[in-house]
Amino acid sequence: MLIGVPTEVKTDEHRVGMRPVGAEVLVKDGHQVIVQSGCGIGSGFPDEAYVAAGAQVVAEASEIWERADMVVKVKEPQPAEIAQIRNGQYVFTYFHFAADKELTTGCMERGCWAIAYETLTDDQGGLPLLTPMSEVAGKLSVQEGAKYLERPFGGRGVLLGGVPGVEPGHVLILGGGVVGTCAAWMAAGLGAEVVMLDINVERLRRLDEMMPANVRTIYSDPEAIRERLAWADLVIGAVLVPAAKAPNLVSRSDLAFMRPASVVVDVAIDQGGCFETARATTHRDPIYDVDGIVHYCVANMPGAVSRTSTIALTNVTLPWARKIAAMGPEALAANDPHFANAINIAGGRLVNAPVAEAHGLSCDSLDSLLVNA
Ligand SMILES: NC(=O)c1ccc[n+]([C@@H]2O[C@H](COP(=O)([O-])OP(=O)(O)OC[C@H]3O[C@@H](n4cnc5c(N)ncnc54)[C@H](O)[C@@H]3O)[C@@H](O)[C@H]2O)c1
Repeated sequence: MLIGVPTEVKTDEHRVGMRPVGAEVLVKDGHQVIVQSGCGIGSGFPDEAYVAAGAQVVAEASEIWERADMVVKVKEPQPAEIAQIRNGQYVFTYFHFAADKELTTGCMERGCWAIAYETLTDDQGGLPLLTPMSEVAGKLSVQEGAKYLERPFGGRGVLLGGVPGVEPGHVLILGGGVVGTCAAWMAAGLGAEVVMLDINVERLRRLDEMMPANVRTIYSDPEAIRERLAWADLVIGAVLVPAAKAPNLVSRSDLAFMRPASVVVDVAIDQGGCFETARATTHRDPIYDVDGIVHYCVANMPGAVSRTSTIALTNVTLPWARKIAAMGPEALAANDPHFANAINIAGGRLVNAPVAEAHGLSCDSLDSLLVNA
């Protein structure tokens, strides 16, 4: 198979869909890899490393889209990319179709196989190609929160770890899933006092067992949230109700309970945010003020630490790219239901029910397409 890797074109996106070692492994498997010149620069992987791995470097993205059987990317195809997708081409990347009707109909019209990282499942009920980015965002949320607590950025001027004779900062984490757990490890490691709220008691039980002594768990209800808002220097929003908009846990009037110049990092902003006052921001302009509270609501946090994020992402995507290259998506989907869940569009036919429902489009059954193939 000929596998192509273009440079990401979405604003502020510095990750790349494949590292040089990925090209090396695929070439050893007997495939050909072509990458666009400069695709790895934002993550610290120069063209020479791809060449040494056996890949061919080409100047233009158009050559990748023209020649590749499978295109491996990070972000959803942008309009100029959609226009270049070929009939029957395999595109392996994040799509998040439910949020974008034009992207969905565009990929259907181009007749491609849209294989979405975010819907590939595992035996534990998880989304293994999404988890590493939640881990990155969780850890980064504390790093960013600590920075914006600094006075020159508008924060309270609190050092999360404290110093001898001065109490540490207080970190409140709403949601104890992947993001919340990684945030708690980071904040606890810095020496902060941490409280995690969740509505899943089983989850709280597990967190209680695994977390250090400076992390406490509390059942999440409006009273607990109000009480802890008044206590916190930094609040991290990390809730998720799968396939739904984030629940609104903190209203604008609740901000009045918070200490002046405390900081909110609403990681759940990609699902609408769990603060009423959250609106998506960018790395170039990440924060804004509402009623004296600093808000950080960057929707693609992992892009800020592109090298770590690229490595974390490609660690989990490469094994699947190899399987797709070896078997093709039809045979792989027929053998592996978790992979089948990743196929959102099969040769131009929409086969993901929630996406179809979100846009009022009709949905085909992947099984029937595979049987007829
Ligand atoms: N901004 C970014 O760059 C970025 C990056 C990665 C992930 N995210 C987002 O972060 C959010 C969290 O992701 P995750 O992987 O940790 O999800 P997760 O499913 O692992 O965890 C979510 C947790 O929220 C809890 N929860 C649900 N409703 C709650 C409520 N009312 N009160 C308290 N807790 C509640 C759940 O019980 C669960 O433990 C998602 O919206 C995800 O899309 C954002």
